[in-house]
Amino acid sequence: MTWLNLDGKVAIVTGGACGIGKACSEGLAEVGCSVVVADVDGPGAEKTAASLKDRFGGEHVSTTTDVTSKASVVAMVQTTLEAFGQIDILVNNAGILIPRLLVDPAGREELTEQIWDKMVAINQKGYVLCAQAATRVMIKSRRGGVIINMTSESGLEGSQGQSVYAATKAAIYSLTRSWAKELGEHNIRVVGIAPGIVEATALRSEEYERAVAYTRGITVEQFREKYEQVSIPLGRSGKLSEVANVVCFLASDRAGYIHGTVLNVSGGKSRA
Ligand SMILES: NC(=O)c1ccc[n+]([C@@H]2O[C@H](COP(=O)([O-])OP(=O)(O)OC[C@H]3O[C@@H](n4cnc5c(N)ncnc54)[C@H](O)[C@@H]3O)[C@@H](O)[C@H]2O)c1
Repeated sequence: MTWLNLDGKVAIVTGGACGIGKACSEGLAEVGCSVVVADVDGPGAEKTAASLKDRFGGEHVSTTTDVTSKASVVAMVQTTLEAFGQIDILVNNAGILIPRLLVDPAGREELTEQIWDKMVAINQKGYVLCAQAATRVMIKSRRGGVIINMTSESGLEGSQGQSVYAATKAAIYSLTRSWAKELGEHNIRVVGIAPGIVEATALRSEEYERAVAYTRGITVEQFREKYEQVSIPLGRSGKLSEVANVVCFLASDRAGYIHGTVLNVSGGKSRA
């Protein structure tokens, strides 16, 4: 038995094909979980699941899942039950960031209804649909479980040019607290993780950097410099594995009394 004792647990990781989700999938597979890599990028999810088998052994599967679609989320849960017969851990992680100004007098990067709808659908509705579908199974099984919601320290801080993203992340703090109040009696723990600035992922694309630099009135080069030099008390950005390590700890019984709260993994950057 290992210290975390997660061997044989079944974990679903949404947005598990790349970035933080991939790192979480790897971390959970390394400590003995069977991982369901769920992502709208089906081939990416398949590749990640295959790499888990190669690197860590065990059984892992992928599903092409759009977290904004109830039917797709129900199919994700079905795939998990067919493969492993249970769900112990849900990592609600799939999220997107499209920088936009509330009002752009130049008319270039202004928030539209479509962008609002898209970000809220993935970053909020997606979390609700996945938590609801997984919780149904956890309650029915009477085995308890853990839901880990990936939010962001920008959810409490706010973020220039990223107000909708930050608002969707703030909602996740609230959902985490409320679900904890609802699900504690079923022995289902609900916790959030708020990463700060971490190693670049697909989220930090050229398009993202161009748009966010524009919304802050600086060049992409200045944004990159400022981004790297921003005052992080630990003096460096976080590793994806450092987020994954916290996921593994929170998923385990070692974190058995951590419930209804959000942990910063931000090198001390956040004021929250
Ligand atoms: N990267 C950061 O600096 C950072 C900081 C704080 C919080 N976060 C949060 O971490 C999470 C992961 O971010 P990341 O940086 O790894 O991003 P990423 O873009 O690298 O990965 C996101 C994954 O989600 C998937 N995805 C997108 N839409 C989906 C949908 N509708 N259904 C299913 N999957 C979908 C993508 O295909 C991708 O694999 C997000 O919730 C993000 O808000 C990231």
